[in-house]
Amino acid sequence: MTDTLSAEPPPMSPDGLVTETLLTPEGRADPYPRYRLLRDAAPVHHSELGPVWFLTRWSDCNNVLRDPRLGKGSLDADRAALFSPGLPPRQRSVMGNSMLFVNPPDHTRLRGLVSRGFTPARSPASRPTSAMADVIVERMAEAGEVDVMDALAFRLPVQVIGELVGVPPSDRDQFRVLVRNAAAALEPGVTDTQLDAAEHAMAVMDDYFRGLIARRRRDLDHDLTSALIAARDGDDRLTEDEMVATLILLFSAGFETTTNLIGNGLLCLLRNPDQFDRLRADPALVDSAVEEMLRFESPVQVDARTAFEPVEIDGHTITTGETVVTFLGAANRDPAVFPDPDRFDVTRHPNHPLSFAAGIHYCLGANLARLEGRVVFDRLTRRFADIAWLDNGPDWRGTLILAA
Ligand code: HEM
Repeated sequence: MTDTLSAEPPPMSPDGLVTETLLTPEGRADPYPRYRLLRDAAPVHHSELGPVWFLTRWSDCNNVLRDPRLGKGSLDADRAALFSPGLPPRQRSVMGNSMLFVNPPDHTRLRGLVSRGFTPARSPASRPTSAMADVIVERMAEAGEVDVMDALAFRLPVQVIGELVGVPPSDRDQFRVLVRNAAAALEPGVTDTQLDAAEHAMAVMDDYFRGLIARRRRDLDHDLTSALIAARDGDDRLTEDEMVATLILLFSAGFETTTNLIGNGLLCLLRNPDQFDRLRADPALVDSAVEEMLRFESPVQVDARTAFEPVEIDGHTITTGETVVTFLGAANRDPAVFPDPDRFDVTRHPNHPLSFAAGIHYCLGANLARLEGRVVFDRLTRRFADIAWLDNGPDWRGTLILAA
C-alpha cells in the first residue's frame, strides 16, 4: 500500500511564507529558510493579501531600488503592505520631513543640503573612533563578563553619532529606549500600545532636537547640528522642521542599525569559530569580514518602493500604485550572486550585499558604519584571545525591519 496519509505537511503557500516571516517570532528570528522557499516558489510574488509584491532575488531587488519609475509611496500604503496600521500624527509629520521618505525633487534637495553638512571632514576620522573603541574594549577586558550589546554594540555607535551631531554625553543614554520605541512603529503588525509608545518617543526627540537647534543658533559649534543650520544651496536652506527630522533620522539611523551590525556580527563569529580563528590569524581580513557580516545578517531586512507607472519584472507587470517589498536579507542570500550563500565566509570576494540598499536612497552613513565595524572587530580580535557565551546565546528582540 503506498496510498497512506503523508506525514509531511503540505508546502506552505507564498503568502503563508511571507506572513510567517513578517509576523511570527520564529520567522523573524530565522527568516532565511522562508526566504529560500519563497525565492524557489515565487521569486516575484504578487500577494493575494493586497496590492503588494514581494521580491527575494538580488537582481530584482537591486533593479527596483535603482529604478526611477519606483519610489517612496504613501506611508499608509507601504505600511498596509506590511500589515501595519497608519502612523500617529507626530511621527507622520517628522517622517514626512526627512529624506528617507520623500522622492525627487524633494529628496534631491534635502539630501544635497544634508550632505553638505555630512562631509568626510566632519565625520569622526578613524583615530577618534579608534580611541573611543580602545577605551570601551579596555573596560570590557577589566570587567571580564559583560553584556556586549550594552557595553559595546550600543556604547560605541551612540558615542560616535553623539559627537558628530553634538548631543552631549549626559543626554545620550535616553535615546536607546526612545529610538527603539520609535522604530518599533515601523515593524509589521505593530500594536496600538507600541504605536502610543512610538508617538511619545517621537515627541520627546522632536522637543529635544528643537532645543538643541535653538542652543546652536545662539552659539554655533563644530558639530553637524551647527552645519545643518549653516547649510545653504544658493538661497535655499533647511526649514526648522526639516532640520529636526534630519537630526532624528541621523541620530536614530546612526546607532540603532550599527548596534545591530556589531551585535549580529559578533554572533556570526561566535557561531562560526573557524571564521573567528581565520580573522584572528589574518587581521587584514577585517574589511571583508565586516562586509560578510552585513551580508549574512543584514541589519535592515526589509525595504519597499511603490510603482509610479507600470513596470515589468521578469514577465510580471507591477501596476501603478502597487507596493514592491524588497527582502534585503533574502537578496543577500541569493545563490545566483553569492555561491554557497548560507555559509559565513570572512574571505568572501566579490561581495556586494544590498544591506545599505541601492540607488538614490543608498545609506548616507554607510562609510561611517563600515568604519565603526572595522574598528570594533579589529579591536576585539586583537585584544581577546577568547570570547565565549555566558548564557545560551542571543536574546533576539523579535524585530525584522531593523533586525537584531
Ligand atoms: C550598519 C549600519 C547601517 C545600515 C545597515 C543602514 C541601512 C540603511 C538602508 C537600507 C537605507 C535605505 C533605506 C531605504 O532605501 O528606504 C539607509 C538610509 C539611510 N541611512 Fe543608513 N544604515 C546604517 C547606518 C547608518 C548611519 C551610521 C547613518 C548616519 C550617521 C545612517 C544614515 C542614513 C540616512 C540619512 C539614510 C537616508 C538616505 C536617503 O534616503 O537618501 N545610516 N540606511
